[in-house]
Amino acid sequence: MRKKITVVGAGNVGATLVQRLAEMELGDVVVVDIPQTEGMPAGKALDILEAAPIYGYDARVIGATSYEATAGSDIVVITAGIPRKPGMSRDDLLNTNAGIVRSVTEQAVRFSPNCVLIIVSNPLDAMCLVALRTSGFPKHRVIGMAGVLDSARMRCFIAEALDVSAESVHAMVLGGHGDTMVPLPRFSTVNGIPITELLPKDKIEQINQRTRDGGAEIVKLLKTGSAYYAPSASTAEMVEAILKDKKKILPCAAYLEGEYGIDGVFVGVPVKLGSRGIEQVIQLNLSVEERMSLQKSASAVKELSAALK
Ligand code: NAI
Ligand code: 2OP
Repeated sequence: MRKKITVVGAGNVGATLVQRLAEMELGDVVVVDIPQTEGMPAGKALDILEAAPIYGYDARVIGATSYEATAGSDIVVITAGIPRKPGMSRDDLLNTNAGIVRSVTEQAVRFSPNCVLIIVSNPLDAMCLVALRTSGFPKHRVIGMAGVLDSARMRCFIAEALDVSAESVHAMVLGGHGDTMVPLPRFSTVNGIPITELLPKDKIEQINQRTRDGGAEIVKLLKTGSAYYAPSASTAEMVEAILKDKKKILPCAAYLEGEYGIDGVFVGVPVKLGSRGIEQVIQLNLSVEERMSLQKSASAVKELSAALK
């Protein structure tokens, strides 16, 4: 029997993710948006389905504005939310999106009580906490997507700097999905060779900063929204790792209870992703400086999460 994936939010990230999941034949996909969008999710789903004969995939793709069709999903991805508008404070966005994520989580888990939840909505780490609290799920079944994206960006910049295949480059970015994220050059390699042996310090620092600014760089260019091609690709990699029980080691936002000296907050760390969700948090041997940067990032996430109403 095919696996079933629900994507909540049929906007840029959600719809592109649905297309990727169908093309990867990871399962049947249901995409849900709010009732006010009327036929939009059904229209996007049908459009993606009609590409199946050309691309050669077999997946049912359904669009809906209520949750009945999502019942029994193995994975529910939440991409619902609003972007920041002029005049809105960070806290306004936080609590508006928290309200959306709370309501979506309640409805989704009622129909799919055994699913793994992948959160994409921003501010990412705080939204994961909302989903964890609302769902009542064990922590290994609530996972945030950010580290895969931030690391993919860093991989691209390293590949560009060294003129090598992006596929040969691995990178590790930990911490919260924001200005305090922690790129780790010591754990970033080209086919096993740490980039600290391949690039000068100032170039590495430039790459680190461009990685931290990666989301903003795209927003500045697009002007009307944020990134969605790389974010949807990153989420699809996580969905695949879980559905195929690949036990892939990926940086994801996980609820920490003491790991890395961090407690009671979602922060990006390397995890093993398999059919149960997060099967292990990998504890890297960080230097004092790296550990301090991670703890500073966790403090920033904690401060934002404390503003949740
Ligand atoms: P978008 O505006 O294109 O789409 C959002 C969709 O959510 C809209 O179709 C909207 O109608 C829907 N929505 C709003 N309230 C809903 C509800 N209660 N139930 C169901 N659907 C609802 O935005 P985009 O570009 O798709 O981004 C979505 C979210 O993902 C944003 O919060 C964005 O900041 C975040 N994001 C996070 C990334 C990460 O690395 N974690 C990367 C890229 C985006
Ligand atoms: C990004 O990093 C907006 O969080 C989103 O592109």
